[in-house]
Amino acid sequence: MDNKRIYIFDTTLRDGEQSPGVNLNTHEKIEIGKQLQKLGVDVIEAGFPMASTGDFEAVKAIAEKIKGVTICGLSRAVFADIDRAWEALKAAEQPRIHTFIATSDIHMVHKLRMTRQQVLEAAVAAVKHAKQYTGDVEFSAEDASRSDLDFLCQVLEAVITAGATTVNIPDTVGYATPGEFEQFIKNIIDRVPNIHKARVSVHCHNDLGLAVANSLAAVTSGAAQIECTINGIGERAGNASLEEVVMALHTRKDKYNITTGINTVEIYRTSRLVSNLTGMKVQANKAIVGKNAFAHESGIHQDGVLKERSTYEIMSPELVGLNVSNIVLGKHSGRHAISGRLAELGYTLDESELNKAFKKFKSLADKKKEVTDEDLIALVEEEVRSIPATYELDYIHISSGSRVIPTATLSLKKDGKFLEDAACGEGPVDAIYKAVEKITGFQSTLLYYNLSAVTGGKDALGEVTVKIQPFGSSKVYLGRGVSTDILEASAKAYINAVNKVVVDTEGKTLQENLTGEKGI
Ligand code: KIV
Ligand code: ZN
Repeated sequence: MDNKRIYIFDTTLRDGEQSPGVNLNTHEKIEIGKQLQKLGVDVIEAGFPMASTGDFEAVKAIAEKIKGVTICGLSRAVFADIDRAWEALKAAEQPRIHTFIATSDIHMVHKLRMTRQQVLEAAVAAVKHAKQYTGDVEFSAEDASRSDLDFLCQVLEAVITAGATTVNIPDTVGYATPGEFEQFIKNIIDRVPNIHKARVSVHCHNDLGLAVANSLAAVTSGAAQIECTINGIGERAGNASLEEVVMALHTRKDKYNITTGINTVEIYRTSRLVSNLTGMKVQANKAIVGKNAFAHESGIHQDGVLKERSTYEIMSPELVGLNVSNIVLGKHSGRHAISGRLAELGYTLDESELNKAFKKFKSLADKKKEVTDEDLIALVEEEVRSIPATYELDYIHISSGSRVIPTATLSLKKDGKFLEDAACGEGPVDAIYKAVEKITGFQSTLLYYNLSAVTGGKDALGEVTVKIQPFGSSKVYLGRGVSTDILEASAKAYINAVNKVVVDTEGKTLQENLTGEKGI
């Protein structure tokens, strides 16, 4: 049997970004986009340009900057959406317009309030309109798996005649089961006479935990594109997880006989980057990329793995980019050792980034005996590669205890000036955040605070993630900070979030209305 190539359509930046509480800025989306390209995805769905100015700008920036991969923008089956999507996509080397409309009776009657005929006409008109801009047009029949098969086939045939080059069959609400979905795709391929003129795609949601199983079932029936996200993030319970789909196809090649263009060693790094930037932690027992995915706890298992890895490992951690180094990095390690280890971990830093990373490494190694790979990755991602810092923490002093009023004194550096103030709070973290608010003038609601250790041990780096919503804004901003001192990590995380507000267009407007900032 011939080996078949499946196309991987990544929608982390569109459907993934629709996860509750996730709000990526353009800088972060570009960072993820670049990593997706390194990972080898075939299509990057960069956003939904009509949804907001931020989405439009991000799709445009990705289209301009990321080459060698198809860049896709989503639009409803509405001309204005398609025009806006094209405006954002036109600089892309390989642009794709993705247009969609629901085809299930539930959606047509209750949501769209349109008849079948109207939906059919809107779908065809949308594809024709998109086709004026680019040859690469994808059509999605939203809620396809709950649609009447005859009507769905009629719509698919019509949109292919109108020029759709990919037809996507979403299981929008994650309702299908693998056997059923396999048959559903088979029926579509058997019944739509011109189906060979388009690529059949599937897009499965994970409401019943079946998104990956359904996607794999669909490829056995002839689907040639799988839509998925890193770490399976997305609306509600998320989408099919890219790493699970890819590693299932890779590990069970004997069954599927299918290849993808994915460079599997980039999987772990991509997962970590997405988790860091979205603030969505990966559960420890998550397949492929969870902390425990390759950990062997029981004595019997450890014994087996030591004798022969294949006893309990069906794939090697190295295959997904989890490298275990034998070199211990500590305060005597030099620049060369650090840049070498970072390169092994897949980080190519320019001269100034490397200088910054080395400085941060030295100060960490003074506090911590052994600096692990996780520490190094956290330093690079949070301290070296984070967004341009308008405010930087200069120093922090905390007075706290069981019988004192928690007080924080902080100095922040902005444009070479030092801005200092103090505040009391209900606890030390509250006091820190109030002091930051006094200095920057930004008042926000703290929606989320999480503290975790990057590695084990008493001297572990503490990693703090916060989500804030500035007063007067509907947006949520994520901030992260690392330090061996958890209060310092808390301050850094909050300042990082404020820096994101400042670089955001909406934040700039908010700041213009502020008079409170010291030193302005
Ligand atoms: O889940 C869905 O149906 C979608 C479409 C827009 C493709 O995300
Ligand atoms: Zn979806």
